[in-house]
Amino acid sequence: MSPELEGLKFSMQGFKAYSTQAYRQAQDLPAVREFVPHPAVVFITIAHAEGLNTTDDSCAFHKRSAVENNTPIVNGSHMTPDVNIKYVEQTIDLDNVPLDGGVLVKTLAMSVDPYLIYRMRDPNIPMFCPPMTVGEPADNLGVGKIVRSDDPKFKPGDFVIGYLNFQEYSVYPGKIVHFFKTPLQKVDKIPGIPWSVFTGTLGLAGMTAWSGLKVYATEKVKTAKTLFVSGGGGPVGTFVIEYAKIMAPHLKVIASAGTDEKVKIMKQVGADVAFNYKTEDTEKILRENGPIDIYWDNVAGPTLDAALVNMTDYGLIIACGSASSAVGTSYVKVTRSLRLFAVSMTLTGPLHQHFEEIFKRSITVNGFIVNRGPTGDILPQFHQEVVPLVLQKKISVFEQRYDGIKNAGQAMHDLHTGANTGKAVVIVADD
Ligand SMILES: NC(=O)c1ccc[n+]([C@@H]2O[C@H](COP(=O)([O-])OP(=O)(O)OC[C@H]3O[C@@H](n4cnc5c(N)ncnc54)[C@H](OP(=O)(O)O)[C@@H]3O)[C@@H](O)[C@H]2O)c1
Repeated sequence: MSPELEGLKFSMQGFKAYSTQAYRQAQDLPAVREFVPHPAVVFITIAHAEGLNTTDDSCAFHKRSAVENNTPIVNGSHMTPDVNIKYVEQTIDLDNVPLDGGVLVKTLAMSVDPYLIYRMRDPNIPMFCPPMTVGEPADNLGVGKIVRSDDPKFKPGDFVIGYLNFQEYSVYPGKIVHFFKTPLQKVDKIPGIPWSVFTGTLGLAGMTAWSGLKVYATEKVKTAKTLFVSGGGGPVGTFVIEYAKIMAPHLKVIASAGTDEKVKIMKQVGADVAFNYKTEDTEKILRENGPIDIYWDNVAGPTLDAALVNMTDYGLIIACGSASSAVGTSYVKVTRSLRLFAVSMTLTGPLHQHFEEIFKRSITVNGFIVNRGPTGDILPQFHQEVVPLVLQKKISVFEQRYDGIKNAGQAMHDLHTGANTGKAVVIVADD
């Protein structure tokens, strides 16, 4: 028996739901299956997030009453541990759980990313990523180790990255391919780099910053003088700051984030101007330090508006994310006459006041989702180029580690309130 399985006994109680319904629907598999428990396994399940693009009446009411009271909705209130995100202990029979041609994986580290909020939406609303299923384990990119395998591509002891459940152990049967069409991939251990880094700097965040800059900014940085990045203190932001300087050392990089600790980090990684958007006037700082040739937008909302009026003609905006609107806080401060309008708009996205600057200044806006289109096409070269940069410390790693699946809900909550400093990662087990 492998060390993973040592000492584990099993009993034959039925336990349903080990994989998301999305996997099963994609593969035309039966909705749920029974299998056998071991008390070591835990997972979290989710309830629909309140307030984001939802058609659910109670959520709409919640948002409406907040607006009518003129009280901003608190970031992260839709990500409350034990309310929207539940920690549940279940059991699994590691020796005998059927693999159906697939693999049993021990989870080592799980990424916690801002886009998870989009997956906690009303399932009737179409979007680039599928919704999570209420009552089923949440899933996201993670790193794991094969414990048992029916699949000739994997053997016990292999390390894999891919979309894993927030569980200590999970079975990924044969034929299962994630909704992003990515099967589990084998990955070699790199001396000096902990597995958690594969969830951030060498994972989704790093890939996003690297591929977005390479595809959309390579030409522009040759003539650009300034680059502004919002959300600059997170794993995408610090990567953008450092990699932009590698691409074009002459660039003046301006960066914003929501805590003084993040401001220090942004300066440490090379930002020429770094500021806290909660305590300083973004528009004024951009006016004084701009104009901006390239804006890497991680947050949208009021920061995007401040950037729009400080862009150069023929400037470039790389639209990477909308951390401010995903939580529904932007532009809730509306006048009485606009309230109804604002209610409907905040249910579908932020209001922007200066959108017309895009045509007035002939601005190019490139929105992207990392694994689709041109950015997705270059990802196979990512590790080859970026692993050496990480080892040489030219690209830095900052992590906010959460210990155990039990704290995954807290990690999600912190991420959506800005309380994380560095990549939010749940450390599930040692390898
Ligand atoms: N396009 C893609 O394919 C893709 C892929 C991955 C990530 N992304 C996006 O990239 C962005 C950064 O991702 P990350 O992993 O590096 O996240 P992160 O910075 O670790 O976490 C999100 C941050 O957003 C900030 N935030 C929350 N509410 C905000 C508000 N109202 N206004 C401004 N900022 C707010 C918080 O930092 P503060 O303390 O600074 O407020 C929070 O820590 C996110 O928007 C994410 O959705 C896009």
